[in-house]
Order: sequence, then structure tokens, then C-alpha cells
Amino acid sequence: MIANIKQVSMYENLWREQGKKLPWFKPFTRVLDWQEPVAAWFGDGEINASYACVDVHALGERKNKIAFYWEDEKGNSLSWTYLKLYQEVNRISDVLKRFGVKQGDVVVIYMPMVLEAIATMLAVVRLGATHTVVFSGFSSQALKDRIDDTKARVVVTADMGLRRGKVIKLKDIVDAAIVDSPTVQTVLVLERTQGSCTMKAGRDHFFHDVVSREDVYVAPLPVVSTNPLFVLYTSGTTGQPKGIVHGTGGYLTYARSALTWTFGLNDESIYWCTADLGWITGHSCVVYGPLQLGVSQIIYEGSPDFPHPGRWWELIEKYKVTAFYTSPTVLRMFMRFGIEWVQRHNLSSLQVLGSVGEVINPQVWKWYHEVIGQGRCPIVDTWWQTETGCFMIAPTLDREEMSLKPGSATFPLPGIEPEIVDVHGKPVPFGTKGFLVIKTPWPGMSLGVFGDSERFKQVYWSKFPGWYYTGDYAMRDKEGYFWLLGRADEVLNIAGHRIGTAEVESVVVAIDEIAEAAAIGVFDELKGEALVIFAIPRQGLQPGEELKIKVVQSVREHIGAFVTPRGVYFVEKLPKTRSGKIMRRLLKAVVEGNQVGDVSTLEDEASMDEVRSSFNELKAAIL
Ligand code: PRX
Repeated sequence: MIANIKQVSMYENLWREQGKKLPWFKPFTRVLDWQEPVAAWFGDGEINASYACVDVHALGERKNKIAFYWEDEKGNSLSWTYLKLYQEVNRISDVLKRFGVKQGDVVVIYMPMVLEAIATMLAVVRLGATHTVVFSGFSSQALKDRIDDTKARVVVTADMGLRRGKVIKLKDIVDAAIVDSPTVQTVLVLERTQGSCTMKAGRDHFFHDVVSREDVYVAPLPVVSTNPLFVLYTSGTTGQPKGIVHGTGGYLTYARSALTWTFGLNDESIYWCTADLGWITGHSCVVYGPLQLGVSQIIYEGSPDFPHPGRWWELIEKYKVTAFYTSPTVLRMFMRFGIEWVQRHNLSSLQVLGSVGEVINPQVWKWYHEVIGQGRCPIVDTWWQTETGCFMIAPTLDREEMSLKPGSATFPLPGIEPEIVDVHGKPVPFGTKGFLVIKTPWPGMSLGVFGDSERFKQVYWSKFPGWYYTGDYAMRDKEGYFWLLGRADEVLNIAGHRIGTAEVESVVVAIDEIAEAAAIGVFDELKGEALVIFAIPRQGLQPGEELKIKVVQSVREHIGAFVTPRGVYFVEKLPKTRSGKIMRRLLKAVVEGNQVGDVSTLEDEASMDEVRSSFNELKAAIL
């Protein structure tokens, strides 16, 4: 693509200057080697992410600066300086090294929101190895899939996590996940409580037994810029989640740039990103972006509304948070509780508010702006994905003066070239909905799908050759503002968490009594989207309440409780297009009680008549 190459070189200067801000062991001379779809950013440079996030501060002026203030639901609190973080990272790195972790290995981390989880991520990459953090809300089956796919030999976990006052026995979940594991040799267990957990001799070790009490130093290994930093699994359109691989130098450069340009993080910032470490937001916006910038952060282990709906505002007041970053789902929940919970607290320290994970509807945007930000703070609505590494479309500081539009993520970041196209790849006019693509490579882009380079090409780079396909719908208004309009593929967004319909369906059809299933997302006031399942029972079977419960349980067990279906409908037939595609939008319209006329047919191959008759049939046929 000639046009592409021209545009790429336009941005090389920008990225060269951004890249130079990092502490390279061996400076890069090349900015980008682009062999679509694989980009080598700063390919001949050598760096270490742990050094760039920790050593530069701990061995410098920020030594005694607080890196993290941590609190849990009970009000227990801790603070770690950059020096303390450095010491802990080194200690854990030393243990991992003794257990044989080295460059080329993938270490799986399944931990609650504790500071040791962050230290473990940094300890892994200090050795040049790669981590895979699995959100602790995932079930043992989902954890097993990720361990098996990465062939991890070492898993790091905790005896338990605490949420909503309840204990979640993480070590038991790990045990179930690795029962038949052909690869796992070592499980390191952080002991959170005095409660007991089963330990298998020779395989399982408590942190307190193996982590040195003395200070130790593990030299950070210089790795080439494209060394895989982490693999993070995310849902797509098939039954199996994909392991998205991110490299080191390009990713670090991009995370650092994006956080500086949007939130304006600096030495005075007290920053709180509420995301769990198990998602990309936790990786880029808690660990790798802000730590490079040496800011002080808040980490909260627990549920936002526990023990009371004012808990988060209490923390903002206590720590004088200046930059706050959360998801629309949580904001919708807080809106329901009422503003009294907010008004009890002094939130005057806040300067900037961020939103991520899903479309923030104008009503929520305004509430965030007026009630939380007291009309003073700009709202940074950041559109991005696991695959993009960090923000792609979001308001930047120099645009703060410009009026923000509630519900629009505004404009692309410097160096990012999005386009909105129709099904043939032709740019659509302003005001028209289309597919969002990115036309040129950027340093935060994924290196590929773990162990499956074909899949990377096929999913992201084939629909519109030469361009990265995001899987999202978008629209640009006359003034050029971008409006994100949800997923264009068969991926749901439940409370900001991505889940593939195919993934859910493969779990449901594995139930003996079910012949076929369709998973859809329907509008949900709180979560944005909720999961609903349509299922065809095996012939001759009379489905009842019991089978419904079985379906719900099965999804919880195989994926995780955070995707619990809101409804299960049994039908005899599923409406399909002539080519056999399930008409999901029609199922959605039935559940949401909409008229069939509301069903947009952007991609549907079926005629409106067919859709209409299937709709009526389906409504009547729900068993
Ligand atoms: O549909 C978009 C939605 O979340 C998807 C990416 O999900 P994930 O990889 O899990 O990353 C979430 C955190 C970055 C996107 O394809 N999405 C994310 N941010 C926004 C959004 N939709 C609208 N507005 C956003 N700000």
C-alpha cells in the first residue's frame, strides 16, 4: 500500500521523539520496520520495562515518592514508595529466577488487586519473560484454557481475594485449573489471610517461604524492543479467546505518550484508574503508562459500592485524587444511588475525569461532568482496545479549550489515522455509520495473536486490506468528531467487558440437553449490555426451569460469574439468513420489545419480509 507507507513516514519523526524519552540500554536507530501486519517499532533498540517503570525512579529523585496507596473494603491501607516497589519487584524476580523463569517463558498471574500483583508483573518482565494476567473473576476453566495455550510452567496466585466482604478462594480455582496440566511445575502463592489453602508439596510454595527477607538485586535484562511483554486474552468471534501479544519498546512509548497527552499526568498527579489488572486498562493505565511517568496512584481492592455507595468518593477525598478514570457502567450504578453519596465528600482535588470500555451516553457524561467534576473537569472519553495498547481516539490536552461533546470520544491522538468505511472499504460521508478502521501503524499496536499469526492477519487485516479493522461501528459528525457506536462483530460488551457470542454458545451447546444456541446482547440500563441466550432443546425434550438454571450455571462455571446470563429462552427454531447466519438483531428486537422496523439491516442478507415473518414466528414460538 503506497499511500500507507507515505503516511507512516509522516509520523516517524513524532514517534522517534516520543521513543527517545524512554531509558534505552541500547538506543534504537530504526523507528519502524513495517511488514504488514507486523510492525517492529524501534526494532534495534534494547530496553527493559521493569527498569523503565521502577529503577529509573527508585534509583533517582522519586525514591521516596509514593508509587501506590492501596486500600481494601475494610479500610486496611498500605503505601509503597518507588523504593519499596523496587525492592519487592527485585525480591519476586529473584524467586522467579530461582524457579527457572527466563526470557521466552510465559508466567500466568491470577491474583486479586494487591500490590504484589503489580510487583509480580514487573518481576516477570525484569527477567525478559512474558506475563499473562488472568482476571480473577474468570472461572477455573477459563484459567485452564489460558494456562494451556501459553504452556506456562509457573503460575502466581494468592490464597484468596476479597470482594463485597466475601472470600474468593483463588488457590482452589488454580488447583482445579491445573489438575491435568502438562506444563505447570510451580505455583507461587501469596498468603493474604490466615485462612488455609491446600498446598501440593514440591509444586506449591508460599511467598513467605521463598521470597528473600533481605534486599536482593536482579539485574533487569535488556531485551530487544519487540520482545513480548505480555499476552492478554480477549474475546473475538470464535469460541476461543485470542492471546493478544504486546511488545516492549513500542508499547511502552505509546502508553507513556497517550497518558501524557490526555490525562496530562505529571509529578503532582494523584491518579486513580479503577480498572482491574486483568484487563488491558489495568496493564496500560495502572502499570506500564503511569509508572513510567512516576506518578502516585490509588489501588482499591473490592467492589465500588461496598461497604457503602460513597466508598470511592471517600477515597478521592482522602487521597486528594487529581485524575480519575473509570467506566460508564460504574457511573450508571452511582447515578442510581443518588447524589447524596457524592455530596458528602469534598472532591475539589479532581482536575480531569476519564471514561473507558463502552460508549458513555450523554446523560451519564453530563452527570459525571456536573456531579463528580462539579463542572470544572474535562471528561476524557478514551476509545481503544486490548489490541491497540492504549487510547486511540480521545480528547488531548491541547484540545481542552475546544468544546467537548457529551458522548463523543472527539478526535484521534497524534499519529493515529482512523477512517470510517462502508462494507466495500469506501469512506462514508459525515453523519453516516460505518466500520472503524485505522490506516497506519502506531507503536501501541499488537504484535499478533499468540501462537497464531494467521489468525491475526485474518481477523484484523483482511476485511479491509491494508487497514486495521477494529470491529467497531462509528460515525463522524460534520465537525469531524468521532462517535463510537458499539461492536460491529459478534462480540458483546457487558459492563465494559468483552465477550464473544461464539464463546458463550460453545459452552451452551456442550450441555447434553441443548441442540443449538444463540447468545445475544440486549440493552441493559446498568451494564450497557446484558447476555441473553436462545437455545433449542434436543428433540423430544420439554425444557423447564431446571434446564434454564443449568444453562446459567454452565456459563458461570466455564467463563465466569461476570457474564451471568440475564435470561434464557427456549425455542424450536432460530431465525437465520439464507446463508445460515443467525439473525441476532432480530432476537435482540424480540427481547427488547422493539418493532422489527427498528432492526437495522446494515449487513443482513435477508429481505425485510423474511425478517418480519421470522420475527413474528419467533415471538410466538418462545417455549
Ligand atoms: O467496542 C469498543 C469498546 O470496547 C472494545 C474494546 O474492548 P477491550 O479490548 O476489552 O478494551 C476495553 C478497554 C480499552 C472496543 O472495541 N470501547 C472501549 N472504549 C470505548 C469503547 N466504546 C465506546 N467508547 C469508548 N470510550
